[in-house]
Amino acid sequence: MCGIFGYVGSGDICKTLYQGLKSLEYRGYDSAGVAVIGNSISFVKDAGTVDQVLSDLKLPARKAGIAHTRWATHGRPNQLNSHPHFDEKKKVAVTHNGIIENYRKLKEELQKRGHVFRSQTDTEVIPHLIDENLHLGEFEAFKKAVSMLKGSYAIAAIIDGSERVYFARRFSPLVLGVNGDYFLASDVVAFLRWTKKAVFIEDGEIGYIDEMGFHIEKDGVKVNRKPTTIQWNFEEAAKDGYDHFMLKEIFEQPKVIKQTLSSERFKGLATHLSTLDKLVVTSAGTSSYAGLAFKYISQLPIDTITASEFPALYRGGEILAISQSGETADTMTAIRYAKSLGAQVDALVNVVGSTLTRIADKTIYTHAGPEIGVAATKTFTSQLAALYALNSYMRGTEIPKIDVKPGLALNKDLKKLAMDISKSKSMFYLGRGQNYVTALEGALKLKEIAYIHAEAYQGGEMKHGPLALIEEGVPVVVINPQDSYRKKMLGNIEEVKSRGAFVIGFGEEGDDEMRALSNVFYGLPKTEVSPITYTVPLQLLAYHTAVVLGRNPDKPRNLAKSVTVE
Ligand code: AGP
Repeated sequence: MCGIFGYVGSGDICKTLYQGLKSLEYRGYDSAGVAVIGNSISFVKDAGTVDQVLSDLKLPARKAGIAHTRWATHGRPNQLNSHPHFDEKKKVAVTHNGIIENYRKLKEELQKRGHVFRSQTDTEVIPHLIDENLHLGEFEAFKKAVSMLKGSYAIAAIIDGSERVYFARRFSPLVLGVNGDYFLASDVVAFLRWTKKAVFIEDGEIGYIDEMGFHIEKDGVKVNRKPTTIQWNFEEAAKDGYDHFMLKEIFEQPKVIKQTLSSERFKGLATHLSTLDKLVVTSAGTSSYAGLAFKYISQLPIDTITASEFPALYRGGEILAISQSGETADTMTAIRYAKSLGAQVDALVNVVGSTLTRIADKTIYTHAGPEIGVAATKTFTSQLAALYALNSYMRGTEIPKIDVKPGLALNKDLKKLAMDISKSKSMFYLGRGQNYVTALEGALKLKEIAYIHAEAYQGGEMKHGPLALIEEGVPVVVINPQDSYRKKMLGNIEEVKSRGAFVIGFGEEGDDEMRALSNVFYGLPKTEVSPITYTVPLQLLAYHTAVVLGRNPDKPRNLAKSVTVE
């Protein structure tokens, strides 16, 4: 969702702001803008891509500036609603992520006092509030304004006359980058090309960066925090010759899964989980499918609750929260709620230092490296790998062999198949047992990046309604390895086939019955981790279909990488 970037340093301000913002594009946005301090504050902002709005950026800047990518919540994407926002005299420029819940009341009060608003955003109250309090001094004015806000925010502000970038955080991520120059960003990917030294800002903290360094305080007390070194590399966040990040990230999976399983760090949590009577897994989107897979494979009684529905369904018990970003607002709200009721929260996360890792009592990382494509690929299979490992430690058995290369080897064939299915209006994905999860994930990938309607069902559920939708030529992807469900799935394939479905079968090499029943068949080796093995070709199928249809798989419409609103 929205991305914030700020910079104070001796480098080329405009170029740095542009490059920082380019690295935040993957979060998803519809408008872009920057503001810099020169003799006065100058700015450029509009709806459109970073390149459309900000290429050839030449603003009279001295040492400090802020930049923003906006994902519209309050008001349509247009020039006026783009960030930064200003007070009338343009003494203050503000970028903001999150939602100011009391903005209507604040706006009415400010308007009564003569302030004139130009946008429909909630953010615009902030520069007016800062401006009103400037008689207190810059930092005091910023603090006073922030103290009046309710809701969630990461804020970056500049004030004419100084060379500082002010910041504040509540429920929306912010991190500083340090290398003699100072960076402020929504995530570390934005400044990785310059530095790996990061200082994570916590909820309730407020401060500034300037030429002298960084200052953080909470409730008026100075916070001393040393930078930590991020293990990710800038190169990992680059396309590396691939057409899209998504394709690169799909092909990274063999390496990533090795990284995930490279140490025995799951042992401690596994020993602890084995002592529980019940575990509640909460997560969203693809991460929720990883949670569901854990329910299928684990002997521990597990409740899975979609994070956005959590308070309505939670009846107590220890939590395992799963999130790639560690920032998903639904998941954060769910675990804050559970914690308020006294629950212990464990977390499986990819992004180091993310909000979830701060709230959770115990965190284990997937170590999948930065994932730039909006569609979760390597982070999903690394979550699954971690959960299989956790399960093995809980049972005292060997971690099963995980090999995703056979799925990758189908790349060319799936590219051809993509040409055919790209003409489809609607598709079905069927699986049983743990491969219901594979079906869910395959269908979600196709929906989100190819914009083709796709539904996943347990094989046995089709006859209870959805079968009515099967007619001549409707593609049905069936995931059917040789497990205990295979026979029943063969029956389910017959049911759709006899109604005209075009069956795309994924099964075990040498499964002649599956081959004979399928219109096209893809064989994979025997595996104990079929949701991982079979997800990989479904990622490729979705990717190629999106490309055939001319969609950008890295930045699907309407979606964001890190979903920081509820
Ligand atoms: C998956 O391709 C999606 N981008 C989305 O469903 C995602 O998994 C969901 O928003 C949860 O994100 P998280 O893992 O960062 O919490």
